[in-house]
Amino acid sequence: MATYHIAVLPGDGIGPEVMEQANRVLDAVCTKFDITLERTTYPVGGFAIDQHGEALPQTTLDGCEQADAILFGSIGGPKWDSLPLDKRPERAALLKLRSHFDLFSNLRPAKIYSGLEHLSPLRSDIAQSGVDVLVVRELTSGIYFGQPKGLEGEGEEQFAFDTMRYSKREIRRIAISAFEAAMKRNKKVTSVDKANVLVCSRLWREVVEEVAKDYPEVKLEHIYIDNATMQLICDPAQFDVMLCSNLFGDIISDECAMLTGSMGLLPSASINGSGFGMYEPAGGSAPDIAGKGIANPIAQILSASMMLRYSLGEVDAADAIDAAVVKTLEDGILTAELMPKEERVNASSTAAVGTYILQQIS
Ligand code: NAD
Ligand code: IPM
Ligand code: MN
Repeated sequence: MATYHIAVLPGDGIGPEVMEQANRVLDAVCTKFDITLERTTYPVGGFAIDQHGEALPQTTLDGCEQADAILFGSIGGPKWDSLPLDKRPERAALLKLRSHFDLFSNLRPAKIYSGLEHLSPLRSDIAQSGVDVLVVRELTSGIYFGQPKGLEGEGEEQFAFDTMRYSKREIRRIAISAFEAAMKRNKKVTSVDKANVLVCSRLWREVVEEVAKDYPEVKLEHIYIDNATMQLICDPAQFDVMLCSNLFGDIISDECAMLTGSMGLLPSASINGSGFGMYEPAGGSAPDIAGKGIANPIAQILSASMMLRYSLGEVDAADAIDAAVVKTLEDGILTAELMPKEERVNASSTAAVGTYILQQIS
């Protein structure tokens, strides 16, 4: 029997609500596939600030260091928004974890399953044409991390600055992630940039073209970020792997989530060069619906599946979760945000969706 250690970081807002369902589903696959997942829960984000005075306590970081993988919920919310940027949950916990573990390769898969086109807000003929996109987002560099960043001067002359920086090495390794992923999918990479304006994007294109030479079977296209956002809406079927820098990938992945029906459907894996990973929904703590028991747990549950697949190599268990999720959606067991407003009285709760999914497994 295989035994793994998982650091579970539920965080804030809907994080603990959806994590509870992911844990139940993990219990079900562990029983079925004879896996032992030793899970230890640690405080992170605003919850950790309130309890321990900092967003990423040392005990939490130590627990993550000792684990085989991290399962992360979501962090942040209005209560902590007025803190200085470097103390806020987003920078002090989430970005710190990403950079501490060098989790440069962020995989965000978005797919409309056949028969589930009605969940998409796209026009039906466009939804029918298919959406099956993997956003490969660079996660530990670019404008999020570039130095210097700051605020100088006073009055109307006060100015703020962030620095977008990319080394060839950083571009090369994320491009390799994208091409490797494309080789296992539909063999197309669309690299998203703003090379008509940004020096970083010029270097990005140059390095991506170099990497492409090692993958002659993969078709490479370049697209500007502004065009990419509209092409995703009018012709999403043209995309397979979308290779993005940190900020562009952040924006594109929310759009991809919504094409499939909801922010609450998009999981993500953030992986380093040794295969160690953190797994989390692409969406946030959703303060507008937190505490109501109506959040969609599927992104969290599929993030747990990605953890089983990518960091633990438990492919059968991951496949079982993915199939159970598709069956649940097909059977119309939906949280409110996936339904037209007038039908939401029939919506399922967070817990009811979790229960239905685990019943498909056990
Ligand atoms: P958000 O992703 O939390 O919410 C955007 C919209 O999507 C909201 O209407 C929300 O209700 C909906 N939504 C998100 N997840 C959902 C789910 N599982 N089920 C149903 N609906 C869902 O983005 P925001 O409102 O811009 O940010 C809220 C807070 O979350 C901020 O503090 C932000 O910094 C933080 N955030 C954290 C993460 C993370 O922890 N990984 C990611 C994004 C945003
Ligand atoms: C995401 C989130 C984070 C990001 C925030 C919360 C720092 O939006 O994971 O997409 O911008 O990367
Ligand atoms: Mn985001």
